[in-house]
Amino acid sequence: MATTNKSITTLNDLKTPKGSFLLGNLKDFKKKNKHRILEKWAKDFGNLYTIKLGPLKVLVSADLEVNNTVLKQRPENFRRLSKIDEVFVEMGFHTVFNAEGEHWKKQRKPVTEALNVKKVKGYYPIIQEKTQNLLSKINTYTTSNQSIEILNDFIAFTIDVTTEIAFGYKLNTINNKKDSFQNHLELIFPMINDRITAPFPIWRFFPSKKDKQLKSSLKSIEKIIYDFIKDAKNRLKNNQELRDNPSNFLEALLIESEKEDTVFDEKTLYGNVIALLLAGEDTTSNTLAWTLFYLGQHPEFVQKIRDEANSVYNSSTPENYDQIASLKYTNAVIQEAIRLKPTTPILFFQANKDVIINNLSIAKDTSIILQNSFTSMQEENFTNPESFSPNRWIKSECPYQNHTPKTVKAFGGGSRLCPGMHLSLIEMTTAISSICKQFDINLEGKPTDIQENFAFTVHPENLKVKFKSANTN
Ligand code: HEM
Repeated sequence: MATTNKSITTLNDLKTPKGSFLLGNLKDFKKKNKHRILEKWAKDFGNLYTIKLGPLKVLVSADLEVNNTVLKQRPENFRRLSKIDEVFVEMGFHTVFNAEGEHWKKQRKPVTEALNVKKVKGYYPIIQEKTQNLLSKINTYTTSNQSIEILNDFIAFTIDVTTEIAFGYKLNTINNKKDSFQNHLELIFPMINDRITAPFPIWRFFPSKKDKQLKSSLKSIEKIIYDFIKDAKNRLKNNQELRDNPSNFLEALLIESEKEDTVFDEKTLYGNVIALLLAGEDTTSNTLAWTLFYLGQHPEFVQKIRDEANSVYNSSTPENYDQIASLKYTNAVIQEAIRLKPTTPILFFQANKDVIINNLSIAKDTSIILQNSFTSMQEENFTNPESFSPNRWIKSECPYQNHTPKTVKAFGGGSRLCPGMHLSLIEMTTAISSICKQFDINLEGKPTDIQENFAFTVHPENLKVKFKSANTN
């Protein structure tokens, strides 16, 4: 990227939205729709601007080139915001998500290996079984004509899938009464969000009821996972066959932890199991829920997905992994839901050193928010960007001139691109195709009643749907 000394800009040259004298823009930043506020400010003040969170000046970038460069120049020039690590470590989470430098590199390798295409293909029977459980649950709703907060079932579905992949434990939280494990996990993301955005760690001095609840949930989760670690260690003892072909992520990590230059001590083992559960749960279940938000308003797309399912497979779910590639329409609907309602629209970073990107000088330690969803809502990248048009993702059917998939950064990018992307797409395609094959979906209430709530990831609030058995003839 060419830079000329003449036109170097610093953060002081950028505009800042008006805020209060002491707190700056903190009040707006605490709102549930902070990602949309940041998006609006990008329209008002330009793709690059600063906000003030109390005394801290933060760079906000909705600029595609700057965002790509920050994502790509990791781990050398940029890192995740150090506050994320602080908050994670305080909760006992030493994970690939908050690790940096060499430590991150060593943790990243076994995590990406556990989630690569070949492994995900091997996990397909798990995804299929959990999808069948989900379908049985939805079937119970059709008889009572109830309107359902479907997000809870999607959370249970993703926890069941990831728990089996992570440590081989068969949960059926979808059909059993809400498992306490799910209750504990659900507390964590909103608290991470509260703490990362808190100007002062008040919970350390005056813990609220929620802080106390979190502490007790973290203890319970730790107990459950350490028991799994103990069981896995016993299984691996003297079992060379299992050591050669570990049957789940935890077993693979335990073998990795025996290597000489390992970074996997007990804490990091625990941390990465929990990382998989946390990272795989909220993101995937929220995306599934947002997809139903659109399908509940567009019966014509439900019908298209159903026709496609009927032409590809005979059972209630795709019969094997290879059939997923033929579910082009389902994939298009999911891509469009991700573009319009990304669950991770903003990411938090920090500069490791003084860096210049495109003539913008970013000083060491500058906090940076990447507003990644802005670019996917620009006319120049997607014609008619506000409209839900899945056809734009099918080359032969795309009705629009502008279509630039690489501007959608829902899974991040560069060397830290989400390693669970493939798994989540397979889970979501299997679930959405199978649901539409059997059920009609209707959104309860007006779409405008359904709000976006950012709690580290964005979930729909007040999303209720009704299911009816489809008239399949
Ligand atoms: C719709 C589903 C998902 C979305 C939108 C999503 C999004 C993201 C994003 C934006 C990041 C940060 C990437 C970056 O810094 O460049 C990330 C990281 C990560 N994700 Fe996902 N994710 C999803 C599903 C999953 C699943 C299913 C798993 C595993 C079971 C997973 C595991 C991880 C891990 C371990 C990281 C940390 C990677 C690192 O720091 O090197 N994700 N994800």
